[in-house]
Amino acid sequence: MKRKIDFLIIGSGIAGLSYALKVAQHGKVCMITKANEDESNTKYAQGGIAAVMYSPDSFEKHIQDTLIAGDGICDEEIVRMVINESTERVNELIAWGAKFDKTESGEYDLAKEGGHSEHRILHHKDNTGYEIERALLAAIHKHENIEILDHHFAIDILTQHHLGKEVNSRTPDIECYGAYVLNLRSNKIETILAKTILMATGGAGHVYSITTNPTIATGDGVAMVYRAKGRIEGMEFYQFHPTSLYNPGESPSFLISEAVRGFGGILKTIDGNEFMQKYDERKSLAPRDIVARAIDNEMKTRGDDYVYLDCRHLDKAELIKHFPNIYEKCLSLGIDITKDFIPVVPAAHYMCGGIKVDKEGRSNINLLYAIGECSSTGLHGANRLASNSLLEAIVYSHHASIAAVEDSKAINFCDAIPDWDAEGTAHPEEMVLLIQSLREVQAIMTNYVGIVRSDIRLQRAFDRLEILYKENEALYLKTIISPKLCELRNIINVAYIIIKHARERKESRGLHYTVNYPKTTNYES
Ligand code: FAD
Ligand code: SIN
Repeated sequence: MKRKIDFLIIGSGIAGLSYALKVAQHGKVCMITKANEDESNTKYAQGGIAAVMYSPDSFEKHIQDTLIAGDGICDEEIVRMVINESTERVNELIAWGAKFDKTESGEYDLAKEGGHSEHRILHHKDNTGYEIERALLAAIHKHENIEILDHHFAIDILTQHHLGKEVNSRTPDIECYGAYVLNLRSNKIETILAKTILMATGGAGHVYSITTNPTIATGDGVAMVYRAKGRIEGMEFYQFHPTSLYNPGESPSFLISEAVRGFGGILKTIDGNEFMQKYDERKSLAPRDIVARAIDNEMKTRGDDYVYLDCRHLDKAELIKHFPNIYEKCLSLGIDITKDFIPVVPAAHYMCGGIKVDKEGRSNINLLYAIGECSSTGLHGANRLASNSLLEAIVYSHHASIAAVEDSKAINFCDAIPDWDAEGTAHPEEMVLLIQSLREVQAIMTNYVGIVRSDIRLQRAFDRLEILYKENEALYLKTIISPKLCELRNIINVAYIIIKHARERKESRGLHYTVNYPKTTNYES
């Protein structure tokens, strides 16, 4: 069965939802998403969304903070574009119904996070992403042009390679027509043809053993585009959040927002001593790459399993008011954050690289756009500044929607695409093989391609991953398609790209730190 649609969107986080609201003014939209419609990294965002709202903050200060965090390889033109549009796009989010906390005087209660020189993070308590996802879905449900197909898993995009024949001035080689999608209720694989296709599949935290990301974050979009010969860049820059709650056995790891450090929380070793002054003058509020590396170093040299975040000196009522979910979560584990230290460890958190796109969110595959965490725009460089990702998603949904509406005008559907010639299933027979291989990939990536790398570790990771890749491809060819099998395949593809990019970068920069090429200085603009 073939479904035909004007705009196909893969993913229902902030990127997919905000883009849908824009393109739906111009045609029929089909949004597919592999779990419940609200399940996404977006839903778990805590700290908030960075935007310039009032003086003494300024666009220039936010631009410089982003450039410094990015360690010298941000695309400055893109940084300026995104930050200069921040106020307008955040106001649009507010107009769609998202609510952010205000002070008693009626101004937005702006928080501060690592690497920010001013208070500029709009937030809704400590569950900002939940509020954004709620508001966008409510607006979407009112729109008659938008259909959401939940529990629909995109297996691969449909592309044709024109082998050098000029199709248009942008993309001479590859064209995208839609996607093969496994309907997890019927187990049928459907062909969805579209005039334009948006990849908004988010991150890939589950490439690593410890992550803050929900289970949907398996790098599907990057892997699909990579298999279709699309351009992927910057994957060596995987961001580890410094402070996830140390609670062995819990996966994903619960995040302790950076905003807690912005509020005055201080990192300490388990004997109660501060240590960040040894690493950076900004101490606990240095950019994330520096803080995560410092914690990793303290844990390794001292032989400890975690460090502490100390909030005991902070105003109790204000702390609970600003971070009610963090307070409740810790309390449920017997930790009263107003009286006790919080044990924390770094965890894989954000994919700074991804599908290479231009200013309009266009990938190098004609009619395929990518925005949000699965894309690489040039904004983050070697290290994302906290709370810049939600912002990047809404700025690019605006740009990409304009481009896609324009590009879709001259497009006809490609009926020649064959349907998938088999069915799928929700539950693969050989689950034990998949689970074991997944654990092996995650262990390889955590031990050899984590916060600190070396040539020999990367070589070992590459060799070990090759075995898993061959085993899984063989399984893929002879087994009925299932989401778990596809996700494992995607995770292996993404792990391979991270290792490949890490081996190509012969320097330590931002999030990519290797003992073979030690870092001498941090970038200062
Ligand atoms: P997502 O929100 O992850 O959405 C991806 C969507 O794609 C999901 O709906 C998923 O189900 C779907 N999908 C994936 N693969 C497939 C497939 N094969 N088929 C169909 N559907 C698929 N950023 C900030 O700026 N500020 C913060 O305070 C902040 N806090 C964070 C806290 C946590 C715990 C985490 C995990 C992240 C945080 N981030 C924060 C990062 C930010 O939340 C994400 O980068 C952002 O939400 C990504 O949005 P997205 O729309 O690109 O992807
Ligand atoms: C946090 O609240 O610490 C997460 C912020 C982010 O990832 O941008």
